[in-house]
Amino acid sequence: MKIVIIGSNGRLGTELARAYHKNYEVIGYNRAALDVENLAQLRETLHPIDFRILINCAAFTNVDLCESQRKRAFIINSEVPRELAEICRAKNAKLIHFSTDYVFDGEKREPYLESDPANPISVYGESKRAGEENVLAVLGRHLVVRVSWVFGPDRPSFIDAVIKRALTEEQVDAIADKFATPTYTKDIAEMLPRFFDTDVAGGILHFANAGECSWQEYAQHALDCCHKLGLPLKARTVAPLKLSDMKNFIARRPVYSVLSTSKFNALAGAPPRSWQDAVAEYVRSYFCA
Ligand SMILES: NC(=O)c1ccc[n+]([C@@H]2O[C@H](COP(=O)([O-])OP(=O)(O)OC[C@H]3O[C@@H](n4cnc5c(N)ncnc54)[C@H](OP(=O)(O)O)[C@@H]3O)[C@@H](O)[C@H]2O)c1
Repeated sequence: MKIVIIGSNGRLGTELARAYHKNYEVIGYNRAALDVENLAQLRETLHPIDFRILINCAAFTNVDLCESQRKRAFIINSEVPRELAEICRAKNAKLIHFSTDYVFDGEKREPYLESDPANPISVYGESKRAGEENVLAVLGRHLVVRVSWVFGPDRPSFIDAVIKRALTEEQVDAIADKFATPTYTKDIAEMLPRFFDTDVAGGILHFANAGECSWQEYAQHALDCCHKLGLPLKARTVAPLKLSDMKNFIARRPVYSVLSTSKFNALAGAPPRSWQDAVAEYVRSYFCA
């Protein structure tokens, strides 16, 4: 089976391309090979390929930059997914499109269900929400997977920055009053193939590792894992910061955006592993070489 991956050099796209290489014929496009903002080039490139699944990992992911580049954010995060959904429909292929917990305003204080109303509070969130709507308006059989706090070995994220700081600084800090759930790219890659079957219903699906935490708890656990493994970190504890202290944040961010995976749990027959286990494995695999 032929799978096209757009954004194949991003944090998630690289992991998916690597994971599916063995069992599928994977055609990956990075930005150099295909700039998705050029919609005509997008159509021309994909037109001759006979694929069954298209996974869209390309996105304008810089949340703060989206605030000043609204038009571009909407093209990449909303118009491109619509175009991809139409290309897939014409080929009778399935689109798997990634979205975000930032479609929610964060006012709820328990995990968000797929059926909860979206109410984005940033341009990034608005543009991603518009992308979800565009994809599903074209074909309800397409799948929109919302994920949160994605981490993995292919592009540094929050966890890598914290560990790097802790290697050279005695004290590190992180926001203690904003909550979501880390999601390991490896776990996304493992769960996704069950949705490759075009007969499996589409719509919105939440996926994250199990549990919830603040950025401070996430960082503390990462440091604890490093210390257990004997890594020479200077810092032992993560001091709390407030979201309101982050004067360099331009976009508003939801304070609580935990995604409920109850729909996934029912479909898969089991919940994803805990975020603590996923982080522990990541630290063991990539910081102990
Ligand atoms: N990272 C998170 O914490 C997080 C949280 C929630 C949801 N998500 C969603 O998960 C998905 C994957 O995110 P990620 O973490 O893998 O982000 P990422 O590492 O920033 O990857 C995004 C990819 O999109 C590509 N891209 C951007 N503009 C493009 C263009 N005009 N043409 C072609 N490619 C373009 C980027 O290419 P370049 O490398 O050339 O820039 C990059 O490879 C996205 O839909 C994102 O919204 C991520």
